Amino acid sequence: MTEADEPLFNPFAPGYAEDPYPQFARLRAEAPVYEHPLGFWVLSRYEDVQALLRSEESVELVNLAAGPYRDMLQQLHGGVITPRMQGLSMLDRDDPDHLRLRKLVTKAFTPKAISGLQTWIDAMVEARLDEIAEAGGGDVVDALAYPIPFEVISKMLGMPEADHERIRELTGVIAGSVEPRIDPAVIRAIAEADEELSGIFRRVIEWKREHPSDDVLSGLIRAEDNGDVLSDDELVSQSVLMYIAGHHNTVNLISNGVLALLRHPGQLAALREDPDLLDNAVEEVLRYESPAHFTRRVTLNPYKVGDVEIPPGAFVMASYASANRDEEFFGPDAAQVRLDRKEARLHLSFAAGGRYCLGAALARMEGKAAIGGLVRRFEKLTADGDVEWNGRINLRGPKKLPIAV
Ligand code: HEM
Repeated sequence: MTEADEPLFNPFAPGYAEDPYPQFARLRAEAPVYEHPLGFWVLSRYEDVQALLRSEESVELVNLAAGPYRDMLQQLHGGVITPRMQGLSMLDRDDPDHLRLRKLVTKAFTPKAISGLQTWIDAMVEARLDEIAEAGGGDVVDALAYPIPFEVISKMLGMPEADHERIRELTGVIAGSVEPRIDPAVIRAIAEADEELSGIFRRVIEWKREHPSDDVLSGLIRAEDNGDVLSDDELVSQSVLMYIAGHHNTVNLISNGVLALLRHPGQLAALREDPDLLDNAVEEVLRYESPAHFTRRVTLNPYKVGDVEIPPGAFVMASYASANRDEEFFGPDAAQVRLDRKEARLHLSFAAGGRYCLGAALARMEGKAAIGGLVRRFEKLTADGDVEWNGRINLRGPKKLPIAV
C-alpha cells in the first residue's frame, strides 16, 4: 500500500495510541465526512458531530444495511445481529425504548442522590491523597483515578462490598465492548464477563427487592412511570451500564486532567493561584482530552452533511475528541490547554441532545474533587516518568501516570 492509499483514519497506525490528534486534524481539513475503505463513515468537525448527536439517527446495529461492514460485524459476532446481542441498556436502544429507560433511571438518579455523595467523595479523595503523601508519590491512575469512580458507582448502586473486587475485574473486561472489536477471543471474554456480572446483579437485585434501601439500585427497582417498571433484565443492563459508562470515562477525566496540568506547568501554577478556576479547568481538560473519543449512529434515512450524502443503513462514527479540537469552533489555539477558556464548557465530551450523559454532574464532582485535591495538597506535584497509554481507541487514557509529590 502506498502512502496515498493509506486510509485517512487508521487507529491501528503506529503512534496513534500516544497521539491520535494529527489524524483528526487531517480528517477535519481534508475529509470531514470521511468514507473509510472498510465501509463506515467518520465525522470529525464540531458542527457535524453535534448535529449527528442531536439527530434522531439510530444506535441499533439491526438497522445496518447489508454490505461489507455489516458482514464484518456479523462475522465477528459469529452469527446474526440481533437486538439482544447489544444488550438492553438505554445506550443501545432507540426511542421509544431509550426514552422509557432513561426516564426510569433519571427517577433514581436525582440531584439529591448525587449531591448527597459530595462529602463522602471528598473524604475518600483525602484518604487517597494521604496514601500518596506517605509514599511520596505513586501512579495517579492506580492510586486515585481508578478507585474513586469505582467506589462511587458501587456505593451509589449499593453493591455489597464482598463483590467489589470481582466486579472490578469483570467491568474492566466488559469496558472493552466499546472498543472497535477485532479479536474473537476478546469478544468471547467480554460475553463471559457479562454473563458472570449479570449473575451477580441478579442476586443483588433479588436481595434488594426484600431489603430496599436508599441507594440507586433500590431506586431503580422502585422506579415507576405510568405503571411502567424495569424488568429484571433491564435492571441488570442499566446497572452494568453505570459501571461501563460511568467508570472508565471518569478514570480518564481524572488522569487526563492531571497529565494536562503536568504538561502545562504555567496552567498548573495559574490554578494553584486561583482555585476559583477549578470549575472551568475541569471543563477545559474534558475538552482537551475527551474521556471517550467516539460514538456511533446508524443512519435511518439519507443523511446530508454539507455536500455529502451518507446513505441509509450506514455506520457513522462521530469523534468527540476531534470535535473538541476543531479550530473553526474553538479558535486557532484549540490544540492548547487554556484553563480560562470561555467556551470550554461547550465541549461535546458528554455528548449533546437526547442522550446527554446522565452522570455528567457526578463526573464533574469527582473530577473537581480529585484534580482540585491533588493540586491543593501537593505544592511540589511533578511527573516522575513518562505516561504509559492504555492502547484503547475509544476510552483512550493513561494506563500509568507516575507522579512525585
Ligand atoms: C467524565 C466522565 C463521563 C463521560 C465523559 C461520559 C460521557 C458520556 C457520553 C458521551 C454519553 C453519550 C453516549 C452516546 O450518545 O453514544 C454518555 C451517556 C451516559 N452516561 Fe456518561 N459519561 C461520564 C460519566 C458518567 C457517570 C459517572 C455515569 C453514571 C454513573 C454516566 C452515565 C451515563 C448514562 C446512563 C448514559 C446514557 C444516557 C442515554 O443514553 O440517554 N456517565 N456519557
